Amino acid sequence: MKKDLLTLQDITRDDLEKIFELSLKLKNERGKVAFKPLAEKSVGLVFAKSSTRTRISFEVGVSELGGNPLYLDQGKMQVGRGETVADTANVLSRYLHGIVIRTFEHSEVEELARVAKCPVINALTNDFHPCQLLADLLTIKEYSGKVDKSIRMAFYGDGRSNMANSCILAAKLTGMELVIAAPEQEAPRTDLIGDAKNIIWESDPVKAAEGVDYFYTDVWVSMGFEEERARRMEIFRPYQVTSALFDKAKKDAKFLHCLPAHRGEEVAADVMDDPKRSIVFDEAENRLHVQKAVMTMLMGE
Ligand code: CP
Ligand code: NVA
Repeated sequence: MKKDLLTLQDITRDDLEKIFELSLKLKNERGKVAFKPLAEKSVGLVFAKSSTRTRISFEVGVSELGGNPLYLDQGKMQVGRGETVADTANVLSRYLHGIVIRTFEHSEVEELARVAKCPVINALTNDFHPCQLLADLLTIKEYSGKVDKSIRMAFYGDGRSNMANSCILAAKLTGMELVIAAPEQEAPRTDLIGDAKNIIWESDPVKAAEGVDYFYTDVWVSMGFEEERARRMEIFRPYQVTSALFDKAKKDAKFLHCLPAHRGEEVAADVMDDPKRSIVFDEAENRLHVQKAVMTMLMGE
């Protein structure tokens, strides 16, 4: 694997298979078999935005691997008062064996990774959220037995969000079919789709549901975009994931959401809370297992 995980472009299909294998092993052996690849190591968790799943799964994950997790509020660090990202990276590299960072600009994480001597893991930027997609792909593998061109996923809502962008890279990595159901104003990034034939943009939300195995959605107002709330509520309204859409999909289609969810906005409450369709909490749990696998591969001996 490369030194850092900034987007899914940093991993190969072979890396993905290794992540799946180790994640499932760690999941099965959790609490039973001692495995401490991060013993005597410290991992900094730098957060400039709110988090429930990411912060807790990384803190628990580092601890379970025998390491020392340090939660670092970016707003309380000197980088927030003008210290450069490069100087911060140099200093953190002298103390830490790995850095996990959630911030706004993706370029900041790229600069941190360029200078830092230790591995850097992107825990969400405005543009990408690779750890989330690794958990999602593992969840699909558990439910469907494979993640390849036989799987059809439809992403509903903000076609240019960090989650939509990450779904595009996941489809490129695995070959799964991806339909992005989004309005023209927030249509997916063509620079990311490139010439991939397995990824399409569909502005008709009903058409996008045809033959779908997995529905995926995300909040309409991502962190950092709060001032656009009124416009976003208006343009994404037709893209709510509703139970009616499941009539167009495959028989046992499932519902994925990175969470946090807003019932009545991007997803109808009956879909979100349907135990036959919604697998969002399995998905959230898998964050812990895949991140332990990734940290073992990047920071373990
Ligand atoms: N899905 C996700 O990253 O959740 P948090 O924002 O709670 O970390
Ligand atoms: N698109 C969302 C994802 C939250 C996990 C955001 O960036 O706020």
